[in-house]
Formats: sequence, structure tokens, C-alpha cells
Amino acid sequence: MSNKTLDINDNLLEYILKVGVDESLIKQNLRDETKNLEMGKMQIAPEQGAFMGFIAKLVNAKSYLEIGVFTGYSMLSVVEAMGKEGCAVGCDMSKEWTDIALRHWKKAGIDTQINLKLDKAEESLRGLENEGFDLAFIDADKENYDVYYEECLRLLKPKGLLMIDNIFWGGAVANEKIRDVDTLAIRVLNKKIMSDSRVDASMLSIGDGLMLVKKR
Ligand SMILES: C[S@@+](CC[C@H](N)C(=O)[O-])C[C@H]1O[C@@H](n2cnc3c(N)ncnc32)[C@H](O)[C@@H]1O
Repeated sequence: MSNKTLDINDNLLEYILKVGVDESLIKQNLRDETKNLEMGKMQIAPEQGAFMGFIAKLVNAKSYLEIGVFTGYSMLSVVEAMGKEGCAVGCDMSKEWTDIALRHWKKAGIDTQINLKLDKAEESLRGLENEGFDLAFIDADKENYDVYYEECLRLLKPKGLLMIDNIFWGGAVANEKIRDVDTLAIRVLNKKIMSDSRVDASMLSIGDGLMLVKKR
């Protein structure tokens, strides 16, 4: 028993992946292909994908906004969980990486449910209508996290849920001596969210840290 969050050692992580994550073959194939890419580590962890799918079901999401698609794992996790009535908008500016995503989404039969916007996310978001989404996920360039946060608050329905990735930034947020642009952006946003009267929020220690934010 412990009243402190456990350190997840390799043994425990292996157990979580074996017992706690039921990853489909399509997701396994996408993970296998992505791990060979130079930037493959940008993909979310399997247990986080499973958790995000669970959240989509929990809030009965039918519309999902994703900022930072990469090779499409998080999108696949959420759209599969939403089922055939679900629709999504994905923002990314890399054709190379999202071409991989599209190939796997086609195999999963979910490609027609996803509107992929290939541009700077800031531009793509500007063209979207207010309060259209049940669920959103921010996982793109950290410098713009605050811009994406404000846009997501505009774009989510009242009581909609936002998930923000990498809020621990490998632990750097807790070390005040680290003051690079990305760490500062995440640190400032974490603080802002926790005292933002427009939302309720909770920091979750899964993957590299996930902030759950509920719009009031
Ligand atoms: C950490 S990865 C996303 C991982 C993805 N959620 C997954 O599950 O695999 C970040 C993505 O953000 C995209 N990105 C970075 N800056 C961007 C920007 N300004 N506008 C749009 N996309 C951006 C990158 O091309 C990259 O694919």
C-alpha cells in the first residue's frame, strides 16, 4: 500500500502492458512501423492510448479534435473507441508522418471519419467553429501550447474534456533551473490551468504526464 504515486519500474510497466492493455493488431502494426522512425519516440505510450479510448467512451464522445497527429496512434485509439458515429478533426503539418497514419486508419476502416488538416495547427484551428467538440487532445509543439489551450476552450462544448500531453516534459517542469522555451511554456500553462476558473483540472501521471481539463 502507498499514499504516494509509485515509481513505475520496467517490471511493473511490463505487467501493465500485458494485463492492462488490450492492443489491437492494427495498433501493434502501427507501433512497429513507427518505432523504426527517427522521431518514433513522439508516439504516445500504449497504456495512454488505451486510457484515451476509455475516456472517449466514458464521456460518450462523438466529436474529437486532435492537435498533433504524427503517425496516428492517439487518433486511432480515440476514433475506434467512439465507434462508427464518431467524427474527428486532426491537425498536423507533416505529410510524411500523416501519410503513415492514413494508411493505418484505412486498414482500421476509420479514415472516412477523420478530417485531416495539413497546415500549422494555429491556422487550421482558426477555421473551426465554436463549441463543436466533445473531446480534444493537445500533443504538438510545446511553444504554442497556450494558444492551443485557448483554442480548445473555444472549440469544446460546455462540459467538454481536454487532454494535454507531456505536461511533465520528462520531469523538466519540476526543475526551476531548466528554462528552455518548451519547458517554460508547459510550466506556465500547467500553473495557469490549475487556477483557471473556466475549468476543472487534474494532473495524471501516465506516460509523460497527461492533464485532464473539463470545461465548465
Ligand atoms: C508528439 S507528436 C504527436 C504524437 C501523436 N499524438 C501520436 O499519438 O503518435 C507531435 C506532432 O505535432 C506536429 N506538429 C508540431 N508542430 C506543429 C504545428 N505548429 N502545427 C501542426 N502540427 C505540428 C508534428 O508534425 C508531430 O507529428
